[in-house]
Amino acid sequence: MTSWRWLRYFHLHSRQGCILLGVATLLWLVTIFNINSTAVVNRGSEEIKSEVIKLSEQYIRALARDNEGVVDGPYAGRFTAYDLKKTMAVLLENILQRLDKVEHELNITANISSILAKPGETDKQHSLLAEDLLQGEPEKCRLSDKEKQLYPKCQGKIEWMKQMWKSDPCYASYGVDGSACSFIMYLSEIEGWCPRSAWHGSSLVPTHDIFDMRSANITTDLDGLMQLLKDPNERQGYAWIRMRIKRIWPRWEEAIKNLARKQDLSKRKPKKILVHLGLLSKQSGWKFAEMQFKGGPLGELVQWSDLITALYVLGHQLTITSETDQLSSIVSQLPAANSPCQSRRELPVDIIYIDIVGLKQFKKYVKNGYGKFSCLLRILDSFGTEPAFNLRSFAKQRKKLTSWGGQDLMPQQFFNMFPHSPDNSFMGFVVERHLNESDVRDIERSNMAVVYGKNDYMWQDKKEYLNMVNKSGIVIHGTVYKENKSAKLEHIPNYVINHGILNGEDLHTLLRKSKIFLGLGFPYEGPAPLEAIANGAVYINPKFAKPHNRNTVPFFKGKPTERELTSQHPYAEQFIGEPYVYTININDPEEVRTTIQKILDTDHFKGYLPYEYTEEGFIQRMNAYIEHQNFCQFQKQLTKWPPESAVQILFGEAGKSCKDVCWEKNLICEPSHFLETNSHGALISHGASCAANKTLIDIFYPALDTKTNDCILQQEELLFSCVGKQVNLRRLCPCRNYIKGQTALCLTCES
Ligand SMILES: *[C@@H]1O[C@H](CO)[C@@H](O)[C@H](O)[C@H]1NC(C)=O
Ligand SMILES: *[C@@H]1O[C@H](CO)[C@@H](O)[C@H](O)[C@H]1NC(C)=O
Ligand SMILES: *[C@@H]1O[C@H](CO)[C@@H](O)[C@H](O)[C@H]1NC(C)=O
Ligand SMILES: *[C@@H]1O[C@H](CO)[C@@H](O)[C@H](O)[C@H]1NC(C)=O
Ligand SMILES: *[C@@H]1O[C@H](CO)[C@@H](O)[C@H](O)[C@H]1NC(C)=O
Ligand SMILES: *[C@@H]1O[C@H](CO)[C@@H](O)[C@H](O)[C@H]1NC(C)=O
Ligand SMILES: *[C@@H]1O[C@H](CO)[C@@H](O)[C@H](O)[C@H]1NC(C)=O
Ligand SMILES: *[C@@H]1O[C@H](CO)[C@@H](O)[C@H](O)[C@H]1NC(C)=O
Repeated sequence: MTSWRWLRYFHLHSRQGCILLGVATLLWLVTIFNINSTAVVNRGSEEIKSEVIKLSEQYIRALARDNEGVVDGPYAGRFTAYDLKKTMAVLLENILQRLDKVEHELNITANISSILAKPGETDKQHSLLAEDLLQGEPEKCRLSDKEKQLYPKCQGKIEWMKQMWKSDPCYASYGVDGSACSFIMYLSEIEGWCPRSAWHGSSLVPTHDIFDMRSANITTDLDGLMQLLKDPNERQGYAWIRMRIKRIWPRWEEAIKNLARKQDLSKRKPKKILVHLGLLSKQSGWKFAEMQFKGGPLGELVQWSDLITALYVLGHQLTITSETDQLSSIVSQLPAANSPCQSRRELPVDIIYIDIVGLKQFKKYVKNGYGKFSCLLRILDSFGTEPAFNLRSFAKQRKKLTSWGGQDLMPQQFFNMFPHSPDNSFMGFVVERHLNESDVRDIERSNMAVVYGKNDYMWQDKKEYLNMVNKSGIVIHGTVYKENKSAKLEHIPNYVINHGILNGEDLHTLLRKSKIFLGLGFPYEGPAPLEAIANGAVYINPKFAKPHNRNTVPFFKGKPTERELTSQHPYAEQFIGEPYVYTININDPEEVRTTIQKILDTDHFKGYLPYEYTEEGFIQRMNAYIEHQNFCQFQKQLTKWPPESAVQILFGEAGKSCKDVCWEKNLICEPSHFLETNSHGALISHGASCAANKTLIDIFYPALDTKTNDCILQQEELLFSCVGKQVNLRRLCPCRNYIKGQTALCLTCES
């Protein structure tokens, strides 16, 4: 590193040093060049300050020019510029003596000191006298106890650097020279693990380029988006996505305009975002691209379409890839993609949206550099990944490691289809509305039900249930796939009117004519019930006597979640409820009968679509994530999101998870505030009397063991979990409020 580079640091970060030097220089210039001192006194102090800084810059430049090539002092590196400082210190002391005289003469003591005094800076411990420096006293780059608390990983990183800084030349290229100060400078400036204050770096330095004043502008130019979604080859990978976007486009346009009226979208930075759809790549072997028009699973494509559209209308800079060669050509352009020096400040992308398949491809291409990108990742993960499956070492030890889990990311970097576990982030999707007001005005609703089940096998063993519905005078319609005219559907009772697979518009028209949408228990958590409810049909949601999870049903086997489904559609059960949703035991004919009767008597068939599943709600939520989520800050963030005002710490009953503890108080577990709960003091202040203080590694902590009265903290931050629970443990839980219909956001989180 040249002195010039050092100069930049010095100049930018060591404000106090600069000003002190500058003032001294000014006065020195005053005496040497005989500048009219009365003039100096009469001018405003701000003006003086800026002149002082300008002069000192020139002075330092001149000095640095003379010192270029000097090998540094006791810790032999130019980065710390030891000799330069030594020279300056001697000069300074000399100048300071003159200063005293001039000061006296001009009687400006008070104002000079006000320039010198940096606000809040009273700690003189770091400053050295010229004499000390001359005698070889090394500078003290040390962490105070408070800094250690705020930057828990800093000390560990310093220890690592001590051993490993020679392991790659990139460290030296950033000026690391084996000295404690150079470690701290590097770790604070480049990697962000340590506080700048530990070496007197200024905390006022902006982390973003201050000269980039551009803002992200709302964009409603469909052609531009279609241009981004041109297929890279003949595989027509994006065809389905393009169709969905075009179909919904007028609603997207309206949504972003409405949102801009409701909240200020003007002062946002345009983010550089890489979107990689691994599922469409040839290498995935999934044939997703080929299957999209042949009844392939489309849930993921729906989510990708909506995500891409939202990012685009919000005005961010998108790069969309789906093939590994595209990805690798982009990744290879990233500087130092293979270097372990984790300069997070120089990354050419701000956010990477990817899926698990894509992530495996990505890891292959960035190799050593992965660590530096990992905090930029956002994984589209429809089922959810719980902390116990995410932390590789833990999952392996507990024999829970599957091909989905073990990514060692922050759990909130996984984005789900539904608000499954609050440990992950909820992305969701947009529920398409095929009919507008004028289309539906003349549609009459009658005693009709539509069955949720596109395949014959889903209807197996449901005869008794369907007979009861039929007996209640409800005409039952089906939309079951039939391969050909003569194919037999063996599980469909003959009183059912089957339409075969319907297109979106016809299906919604059928739902508009119906009063009931009948769940059969499978498939789990699809979009169909939301569409039915939006069209005014009441959804009968089958309740499970024994929860369905990875141990009880094949569907969830191997999935990185212990989630227990209490019904076919837990979201409809928990977040919508009556009169739109009735969650009942469909194997109890009497319960089915009374529920049907209740629905007909209540006569409430108004459509309802939760805001979070509309275009506007989707954009609002994604915008909030983009503006506020930051997984690259390892220290405690200064401005927490969601803000503390939205959060309450609750002490749960034994055996309950934080998800449940919060939900019982109509709150949602908020993992980004677990750190505040993780102290013995926090447990004690909530009424625990700790017989012993412990720190362990498992998903249940922090908690109080009700048998032993031990207070147990969490040792591994990646294992903070909303869903962990154990019989004897009372968990201490961070819970936040939420906007009804926009559960991802707290009441004051929307902008
Ligand atoms: C210094 O400046 C003041 C005000 O600008 C002026 O009145 C005075 O004559 C100047 N003195 C000399 C020595 O130039
Ligand atoms: C300096 O100014 C203060 C008031 O600001 C005054 O009391 C003091 O006598 C002055 N000293 C000299 C040497 O002019
Ligand atoms: C010192 O600065 C303050 C404001 O910064 C100003 O009001 C005051 O007049 C100055 N005093 C002298 C002696 O210049
Ligand atoms: C947004 O619009 C402003 C004003 O028209 C323009 O200066 C700015 O460059 C635009 N931002 C981007 C990212 O294009
Ligand atoms: C409703 O949709 C139909 C086509 O489905 C269209 O012709 C009509 O203009 C739309 N009406 C409104 C008010 O958007
Ligand atoms: C279904 O309902 C129809 C008309 O209400 C009735 O004739 C038929 O017997 C019922 N079928 C069964 C199996 O209950
Ligand atoms: C119709 O589909 C069934 C299977 O669903 C198959 O066995 C039968 O051969 C098909 N018939 C024709 C004419 O394609
Ligand atoms: C546990 O830690 C708290 C807070 O640090 C302390 O007040 C208490 O005495 C400790 N209890 C035991 C048993 O060490």
